[in-house]
Order: sequence, then C-alpha cells, then structure tokens
Amino acid sequence: MLPATIRAMSTPPAKTHRIAPSILSADFARLGEEVRNVIAAGADWIHFDVMDNHYVPNLTFGPMVCQALKPHAKTPDGRAVPIDVHLMIQPVDALAAAFADAGADYISFHPDASPHVHRSIQAIRAKGVKPGLVFNPAAPLDVLDWVIDDIDLILIMSVNPGFGGQSFIDSALRKIEAVRRRIDSSGRDIRLEVDGGIKADNIRRVADAGADTYVAGSAIFGKPDYAGVISQMRAALA
Ligand code: DX5
Ligand code: ZN
Repeated sequence: MLPATIRAMSTPPAKTHRIAPSILSADFARLGEEVRNVIAAGADWIHFDVMDNHYVPNLTFGPMVCQALKPHAKTPDGRAVPIDVHLMIQPVDALAAAFADAGADYISFHPDASPHVHRSIQAIRAKGVKPGLVFNPAAPLDVLDWVIDDIDLILIMSVNPGFGGQSFIDSALRKIEAVRRRIDSSGRDIRLEVDGGIKADNIRRVADAGADTYVAGSAIFGKPDYAGVISQMRAALA
C-alpha cells in the first residue's frame, strides 16, 4: 500500500454533501422557529422558494420575509447558515437585488425568466451574492455553454416548479450526469443542487448521478422528527 501522504495526494477530495431543507413545506405561522429547528436538526443550507403567481402558478414570500429570517439562519453555536434563494419569478433583476439586500447567500433564477441572463448573473454577483441558474425538467442546458464560468450553483429541477410534495422525475438523473460532466470540464467549484421529490430512499441515486446539494421540503418538514430524516439522508449518502 502507498504511504498515507501519497495516498492523500492521489485521492480526489471527498464530495461534501449539503442538505438544504425547503421552508416551502414548513409551518408558515412559525417560520423563524422552523428555520432554527431544522438547522439544529442538521440542515446545511436553508432553501427559500420564491414564487410569483406569474412564472409559476403559486405565490409564496418575498425579500422582507428573507430579511426577517436571516437572524434565525444560524447554528445553535452562532455559525451562519447559507440562505439559498430559488427565484421562480419573472422578471428577475429587481427582486434579485432586493433578496441580495435581504441577506441571501445564493440567488438562483431560471434562465427562461430573464431576457438578459448574463446581465442578471452579473447583477447578482455585483451585490456580493453567489449566482445560480435553475433548469426545469424539459429545459435545455445550452446556456451553460456561455455562462458556466460566471456562476457558483446549478440547480436541476426534478419536478415542475410551483409546488412541494410532487414525485421525482427520473429523466433528471440523466440531466444531472450531463451537468456533472460540464462542471468537471469547467474546472470550477460549482455546486450541483437538485430540487424536487428527494427523499431518504432516492437521495443516493441523485448523488450517484453527480449531485452534491439536495433540496428536500416535504420529506423533512412533513415528518415530526427532522433530525431523524436528515440523518437517514446522510446515512444513504455515506
Ligand atoms: C418546487 C420547489 C421545491 C419544493 C420541493 O417548486 O422549488 O424547492 O419545495 O419540495 P419537495 O421536496 O416536497 O418536492
Ligand atoms: Zn426550490
């Protein structure tokens, strides 16, 4: 066997998995407490689903709610937990700026919702926030040919956006594989997140396809024991 130092040099770094509970499925009457509880249960990020009843047929919350939740997005020992804003809105730019001011750490938008995708990405970056692009189940990835060097996150939808609690669409696995190849050949540090229908019993397939960040709404908030679900997910990923 090789000496430990050489083994360490020849082994790629282990993938760091991030679990991002979506507060879309939390109790809206107790959102601050829900955010604190799910972080205490082991959440790595807080996923914040913004819907406008225009781009998607549902309406959720805006930047004022994000700002109100920001002080709650901390571990019990005071470490900040990233707020991952998923914009399902059209147009994008004005509200993206408002979410940056409200404390978002990542802001992702659907390229088909912005007439000037590159400009929207630059505007998010200029606010000091990490930009991401989101792809619906039937959306092509072509735009990545031109902007992969400018983004920090790619979010693959494994359901149609608009509602929690839908079933995972299997063709997303092929798309995740394709995105993983693009990220690896870019040489950049880009998170590959997947959103929709993720549970403890399918998260491993999503990881094996190449994802490293997992949104889960109903799977976590739909159960009384958030820590139990998150630890089942981590066990499946281990
Ligand atoms: C759907 C949202 C998802 C949703 C996922 O438009 O983007 O983040 O909350 O919910 P589950 O995990 O229940 O499929
Ligand atoms: Zn989402």
